[in-house]
Amino acid sequence: MSEIAKLELDGNSYELPIIEGTENEKGIDISKLRGGTGGYITLDPGFKNTGSTKSAITFLDGEKGILRYRGYPIEQLADKASFLEVSYLLIEGELPTQQQLTEFKESITKHTLVHEDMKQFFEAYPAKAHPMGVVASMVCSLSTFYPESLDPNRGEVAVDLTIHRLIAKLPTLAAWSHKNAMRHPFMYPKNDLGYCENFLHMMFAMPTENNTVDPVVVSALNKLLILHADHEQNCSTSTVRVVGSSHANLYASISAGISALWGPLHGGANQAVIEMLQQIYNDGGDVDKWVAKAKDKNDPFRLMGFGHRVYKNFDPRATIIKKSCDDVLAKLGVNDPMLEIAKKLEKVALEDDYFKSRNLYPNVDFYSGIIYKAIGIPTEMFTVMFVLGRLPGWIAQWKEMRENNEPIGRPRQIYTGENARDYVNIANR
Ligand code: MLT
Repeated sequence: MSEIAKLELDGNSYELPIIEGTENEKGIDISKLRGGTGGYITLDPGFKNTGSTKSAITFLDGEKGILRYRGYPIEQLADKASFLEVSYLLIEGELPTQQQLTEFKESITKHTLVHEDMKQFFEAYPAKAHPMGVVASMVCSLSTFYPESLDPNRGEVAVDLTIHRLIAKLPTLAAWSHKNAMRHPFMYPKNDLGYCENFLHMMFAMPTENNTVDPVVVSALNKLLILHADHEQNCSTSTVRVVGSSHANLYASISAGISALWGPLHGGANQAVIEMLQQIYNDGGDVDKWVAKAKDKNDPFRLMGFGHRVYKNFDPRATIIKKSCDDVLAKLGVNDPMLEIAKKLEKVALEDDYFKSRNLYPNVDFYSGIIYKAIGIPTEMFTVMFVLGRLPGWIAQWKEMRENNEPIGRPRQIYTGENARDYVNIANR
């Protein structure tokens, strides 16, 4: 493999170092390009060909459908680990010992309550408030209750406390954003419940009922959260890293990541899947009609939840969650016409050459949307579920960026506006 890349520019020849990762990914290091070439920069809208950092957290191979957290295949973690175990792995770099996991769980459990004053914030939101807007605001508001977390030079102990507070309080904030929208009484966390069970309790329990949580649903949620826990330098993770690179506190950085994830091109895709199914159902459920519309280049309709910008052949997370989806629907005996539409669309996408040739296979958003609907999560909460899963990945990436003392993110540009011109008082001509 070459050690350098040669660049011929304006009659000059430049040598740029080649960098290779532990999985043989190769990059051209352009960190000294502008200074070394008298001002040349590269241009790469969306950064699809540009690495923003070196990272040891997650490896994915879009061509081979590989996804590993700290070297462990996602298939094994989803099958054998708990979400808190995977959170520890992503953040600390190694799977926890029993003692470490016990201490981690105890610390998380101790911090599940949020300050009672925050309940007033919820009550100020209208019932129709989208929970992503509520949760993003609430996470940033946590920084106002813990001023010590604002110190950019806070020590490891303070950072760990903030990390544990975030992991512990996010499920409470998420569930309360739902209860607030329903105008139902808030359910407080129960310290004798596991992480996923506690969230489902706060989401669905009512103070007037004897509440139980289906273990099938707990298992499916544990798997879903693990599958969403990290995905290297995606849009929201890059946002968390850039915001954190200014030495903004972790709450503010995570809140920015939540806002980035809200977009229908990113985390909002699972909500868009159900809205698409609802559209087809409302139109009479003729799947063939809508498949034809999706194929028609003159028709703006596109299928949501199919294909992926990184995975070229299949999304390994979708393969795993598809089985879980079948299990949940079978165990819960769900007979939902929209889920029937989903099954028909899945069949078409897996068999029709139009979709197969374009790698428009069902992705993780397709199946996660179906499971969330089957377990009773309201559509507006789907992206909040993605937030719950992605939180440990965002934290791990933020921590890595800070520990590596990475510089503030500040991309350059190619200016295409007006050249210099003198002011003329046009308003009063
Ligand atoms: C993700 O998991 O963040 C999504 O698949 C989007 C991406 O990786 O670009």
